Parts: sequence; structure tokens; C-alpha cells
Amino acid sequence: MQFSWSPLKRSFMTTVPVIAALGITLAACGGSTATTTTSSTASTCVSGSNTKFVKLTKTTGLKVGWSQNALDGAWRNAEEASIVSAAKAAGDTLVATNANNSDDQQVQDIQTLINDRPDILLVDPHTEDAEVSAVLSARKNCIPVIVVDRDVNESMATPGRDFATFVGSDFQKQGALAADALIESLGGPSTKATIVELSGTTGSSPAILRGGGFDGELAAKAPGIKIVAEQTANFARATGQQVMSTLIQQYPNIKGVFAHNDEMAIGAITALKAAGKKPGTDIKVVSIDGTKDAINLVLAGEEYAVVQSNPRLGDLVFQTIGQYAKGADLPAWVVQPDKVFKLADGTAKAYSPDAF
Ligand code: AHR
Repeated sequence: MQFSWSPLKRSFMTTVPVIAALGITLAACGGSTATTTTSSTASTCVSGSNTKFVKLTKTTGLKVGWSQNALDGAWRNAEEASIVSAAKAAGDTLVATNANNSDDQQVQDIQTLINDRPDILLVDPHTEDAEVSAVLSARKNCIPVIVVDRDVNESMATPGRDFATFVGSDFQKQGALAADALIESLGGPSTKATIVELSGTTGSSPAILRGGGFDGELAAKAPGIKIVAEQTANFARATGQQVMSTLIQQYPNIKGVFAHNDEMAIGAITALKAAGKKPGTDIKVVSIDGTKDAINLVLAGEEYAVVQSNPRLGDLVFQTIGQYAKGADLPAWVVQPDKVFKLADGTAKAYSPDAF
């Protein structure tokens, strides 16, 4: 497997020492009060107060818990399908939950999964802080965690200590690539224009990092392009439409829109048209994901570019589980690579059959 590395966000390697298994499965560590020796290195897993990684003692036939934050659109459905099919291909059993965009529900889901004693737990956290305590609880209860897609706040839970690794895209880079595309669409770095930014779920790692990557790149490369309003639309199409229809009344002269995901951009384009604007001609739109609906808007000339956020994380996640089970060194971050799709250079057309 290939582990990529980005210096932008995280900076150290996790060492996972190889242990000689005794043939006792991790599930043997279960029960709320049990004290159980899990490896021949005599590392003791004390359920409820464990401070160390627990190693897997088999590489296939694992019970894998999967805490999904929501199933509310093309991106999440594609991610879910990818995890389900990779689990099947690995010969593992997946126990899945869906928190419907609720932090409280997801914390409860993770606790339910912990009580079910999976061999390993996958968590795609709704926001960066809210699920940290649940991730720490899994570690304390001798269940290793891999954080998938959205990250937790790494100053509160650290890869290599509290969880095995993070598998996901470089959201900060995606934001910077979106800024580059919007700058290009508006005529280059010396352009003077005003734009608005529709941000994702407040407190989620894609909203924080895409926003930071975009704003930083724009300020550094095209200081004459000003963000006059930045408002959340919760990664949702209908909310994107509502928010944009208000913003376009307040800022009728804007020349660009950056949406943190495709769903909000699609809603925004509907609102711009309803307000008599011509997206693609008098207002340039850029967003992130790579859904079929957004790529069709790029192909129709109504959206300038889509930065990919590849939801097909399943293979990478289960390859990582395989490496972990074998006792390999894991990096703190396994990066999912992404591309940029535009009409002008043919990349949107070439990608379109794979869009989700
Ligand atoms: O965490 C990834 C983001 O979550 C995707 O960009 C978005 O569409 C989803 O809601």
C-alpha cells in the first residue's frame, strides 16, 4: 500500500510495534470490568482505563464498527457504499450506524458500538470536538480506532496515541485549489472583485480546513478579490439555495461564489438563476466534491470548476486495517489524493463517467 504524506497538517509517524499474538482475540478484552492480557509482550489491556494501543490478533474475519455521521447526499452515499464493499472484500463484518448529522446521536452510536466489542472501530466524526470523548472512550475500552474522512481535533485526541491513524483527503489543499480556480476564472491574481463563501457544517474539519485553505490562498495570491460574506449552509443543497437567495439581494455585484461542497453550490446556482443572474457568465462558481450533478453543471458551463474530494475511501481504509493488523508502522495521516475538474481543459469530461 502507498502512504502519502502532506506536511500541511500533521508531522509525525506512529510506531505500531509488532506483537506475537497468543491467539486471544481482542474481543477477549471485553466486559466493563475485565483485566485481560492481550499479547505475548504482556501489555495489559484494562478495559475502562487502557492507555495503550491494542493490537489485532487476526488479519481477516474482523468485526468492524463503523460510525457514519450522516447519509444525506451523493457524497455520503458513495462513501458508505465504498466502506461496505471494501469490508466485504476483506472478509470482515461491518456493524454500521448513522448519526443523521447529530453530534449527540453520534456519541451515543459510538458508545453502542463500543459495547458491541468490535475488533476495530471506524469513526467519521460529524464535527471536530464533539466526538473526541467517544474516541477516547474506545481507546480506554481497548478498541483501536481509525478516524475516516473528517478528522477529530488533534489537540484533544492524537493519532498514534489515542487513535491509530486518520484516513482522508487534504481539505486544506482542496480549499487552496478552489481559490486558485476561482482566481483564474475571475481573470487572474490582479483582478479586483467581490465574492461570497458558503461554508460547511460549523466545527467540522472540512469546513474549518477548506475555509482556511481558501481564505489563505486568496489573500496571498489575489488580494484584490474580497470575500464580502461568509455564511454556513450546512453542506446542504436546500440551505445553499436559501442562503444564496438572501446574499444575492444584499450583494448583487458579486462576481464569484466558493461553496465548501457541491450540494451547496448546486443550491446557490439555482438561487442565482432565480435572481436573474447567469452563473458561469456573470458569476463564477467553484465547489468541492465531484458529484454527477455538479460535474454536469461544469460541463454545461454554469460552474467553473469542481475540486475533487474522493469519497471512495473504503479500499484505503481496509488496506490500512490490514497493515495495522500485521503490526506495520502507520503514518499519522493516510492521505486520499484528489484532483481538479474543469470544462476548459477536458478534465471534467474525462472524469464524468466516474462521478457519483
Ligand atoms: O466530509 C466530507 C464532506 O462531507 C463532503 O464534502 C460533503 O459533501 C459532506 O457533507
